Amino acid sequence: MRLFVAVCFDTETRARILAVQGRLRELDRQANFTRPENLHLTLVFLGEVRPERQSAAERAMLRTRVEPMDLTFDQVGFFRQRGSQLWWIGLRPSPVLSHMQEELCHRLTEEGFSLETRPFQPHLTLARQVLLPGEPDRAALLGAPFSTRVNRISLLESQRLNGKLVYTGRFHTEG
Ligand code: 2AM
Repeated sequence: MRLFVAVCFDTETRARILAVQGRLRELDRQANFTRPENLHLTLVFLGEVRPERQSAAERAMLRTRVEPMDLTFDQVGFFRQRGSQLWWIGLRPSPVLSHMQEELCHRLTEEGFSLETRPFQPHLTLARQVLLPGEPDRAALLGAPFSTRVNRISLLESQRLNGKLVYTGRFHTEG
């Protein structure tokens, strides 16, 4: 099973993220937009994991201290991906979030998971395969920055069902 640990957001925050996504959609209607229920912040991508190893991931999550934290969405940007762009909404640097993500990686490593070493870049994917003629006004795309309080992390399974990307919550821990 394909697993990752993420932060999920309440309906109000998702609505705000969807408003940003909506402005991006006006610039490229053909892109592949993340469905509302799939919007999440990945903390650690575990990749393909044998089902019997799920409990090891759960133990690592239980040993990670999840402190309530305020996260602020204050930027949009893109990564280049095979001739197109992946647009994301990003967070203001949060030492509490970074610390929790580092602790989670440490606990997962203790449980025998080998993790990617690329630096943590907190972002939520808004759309993939985006093609824009020029450079959009990022501040206009974002609108006003907004914040939300978070105190929970989730182990999610990623599956492709009938061609659709579906994320299912398998375990959650709360601060
Ligand atoms: P992305 O949105 O930037 O693609 C499920 O695939 C989640 O894990 C996505 O949020 C994805 O980030 C993230 N992820 C991190 N590393 C990944 C990898 N090597 N392959 C696929 N997804 C990865």
